[in-house]
Amino acid sequence: MKIPAEIKIVALVVGTCAFYTYVGQLVPQKEVQPPAEVLISSDITTEEMIAIGEEIAQGKGLCLTCHTVGESGALRFPDLAGIGSSCTTRIPDKSGLEYLAQSLYEPDIYIVPGFNPGMPNIARPPIGLTNDEMLCVIAWLQSMGSEATVTLETRHSYNTDAPEAE
Ligand code: HEC
Repeated sequence: MKIPAEIKIVALVVGTCAFYTYVGQLVPQKEVQPPAEVLISSDITTEEMIAIGEEIAQGKGLCLTCHTVGESGALRFPDLAGIGSSCTTRIPDKSGLEYLAQSLYEPDIYIVPGFNPGMPNIARPPIGLTNDEMLCVIAWLQSMGSEATVTLETRHSYNTDAPEAE
């Protein structure tokens, strides 16, 4: 008996779909979890803040998806090595702390020479770092090229209204 072409095509399509579904099931399913909440207790030291800041930079802050630390050459994003000292000279009459705060809360006000705008406002969703998390990130930035001086008590132009509103 001769099988009609239509039946062959349908059989092929169904067979192919079934095969891919089967292969899809074989691939281990990885559950994607939202980034773990970083817990910041009120009495942490500046050293601990640096460590948390680095964790945020690698994780939920997404900083290191764009920025490098200690690379040179034709870079698309400013390398952050030495930012702890270069932050003090970027804008005349602006302290290093204020420069770092501005570059995080309002990145488009000052564009690093040689680079294009494009840094997201990480204080807003989807990244949405809290003021405390920002202070930890600032501690980490300061520690690269200088000594970190911030504590959770530190105030700058963008977190004047302490305590943290969560
Ligand atoms: C999507 C890419 C991207 C992400 C993510 C990003 N940045 Fe940036 N960043 C940029 C770009 C582009 C510039 C340069 C333009 C400018 O000055 O705004 C910049 C500039 C900076 C500067 C100024 C550097 C200098 O030499 O003066 C700092 C500090 C900085 N970013 C820190 C961070 C931190 C900390 C995070 C994470 C919390 C972060 N960035 C996340 C793209 C990014």
